[in-house]
Amino acid sequence: MSERRVLLIIGGGIAAYKAPELVRQLKAKGLAVRCLLTAAAEQFVSPLSLASVSGDKVYENLFDLTDEAEMGHIQLSRDADLILVAPATADLISKMAQGLANDLASTTLLATDKPVMIAPAMNVRMWEHPATQRNLGLLRADGIALIGPDEGDMACGEFGLGRMSDPIEIAAAAHALIEKAPARTSEPTAPPALAGHKILVTAGPTYEPIDPVRYIANRSSGKQGYAVALALQALGAEVHLVSGPTALNDPQGMRVTRVETAQEMLHACQASLPVDAAIMAAAVADWRPSDSHDKKIKKTKSGLDDLKLTENPDILATIAKQGDHRPALVVGFAAETDKVETYASEKLARKNCDWIVANDVSQDSGIEGGVMGSDENRVHLITQTGTQNWAQMPKVHVAQKLAHEIATHFTPTKETR
Ligand code: C5P
Repeated sequence: MSERRVLLIIGGGIAAYKAPELVRQLKAKGLAVRCLLTAAAEQFVSPLSLASVSGDKVYENLFDLTDEAEMGHIQLSRDADLILVAPATADLISKMAQGLANDLASTTLLATDKPVMIAPAMNVRMWEHPATQRNLGLLRADGIALIGPDEGDMACGEFGLGRMSDPIEIAAAAHALIEKAPARTSEPTAPPALAGHKILVTAGPTYEPIDPVRYIANRSSGKQGYAVALALQALGAEVHLVSGPTALNDPQGMRVTRVETAQEMLHACQASLPVDAAIMAAAVADWRPSDSHDKKIKKTKSGLDDLKLTENPDILATIAKQGDHRPALVVGFAAETDKVETYASEKLARKNCDWIVANDVSQDSGIEGGVMGSDENRVHLITQTGTQNWAQMPKVHVAQKLAHEIATHFTPTKETR
């Protein structure tokens, strides 16, 4: 039997923080999981961590037309053997009971003919309210399976029925239900836009050692690069992610090479060639200490006066150099604090790349706390033919938009436009 698939719809309650653990438990049962977040759920759990743990694109209510063209709500349901709603909030339960369809989660639930299971989670008084109980009666009559809720302490400080069941129990119940479900009959779909394309992505900072305990680095979190790797993978690309040190988990289902220094990153990138495209989102340190010290440098009056620096190789420029192995599309990133577009256009020419994704990393970029480490970004896409100014949006959406542009570049057909 082919792999059984769960579409996990995550509602906007505090229990949504357990969603990554639930995905893990479902996968441990041998089930493939695709996540769909309501707008409220995004306040409790990050789409990037769900993408990492599920190894698939995460669908959100703030979806744009790209998502609808690639995968409408009908297709999301068609691709699943079971739809699991966890946490099922009072709001979602009410929408399901009334057949309301005003966002991606509710339209998907109304459009499905697949088995549906809900794991409610809410305050005890909301659970006990006649309206909720009436709605649950309607859902039971519709044949929807229920797991939980459990009794216990709640985030709101009260005690009673309303805690979402343990992810292990939900996964076991979902697995039992899916075993009984009829096999999926998906209609044939077109191959994903980037199927058959090999793409190299770099991400994160580099660490340049001064001695065994100190290093030169920068504030890059790697979030934007990882999101790009996942978005390209979701469009069918075979992705090789070369990452500097980050706190992020390795995305599943792709080759990941962890490096520390710029020189190691260069070697890993060169070893990855040939590829169809290279997306260089890493924040590579421009300089490294000229001498490597085996022993910790002692604190003396002269401090680090003797610290000499050597320029690091420019990985982007090296990969973008004309030659047999130059990828057909080379995309650089430019973090600037002023004259963003001017400097980025110069960089495009100087480094011989095809596109530059330029972002304003100054503190007055409008993004609270600055772009580095944030989940938000505001970028311009600069190509040889012009500049697109994109609105501020989550890094995950920047990644999806960029992946879509790349797919259009390789297959300029109606489907990807
Ligand atoms: O020159 P700057 O560091 O602003 O350029 C940023 C772009 O160049 C990014 O795409 C980054 O990954 C790449 N880069 C590189 N190697 C370096 C410095 C930057 O690949 N040594």
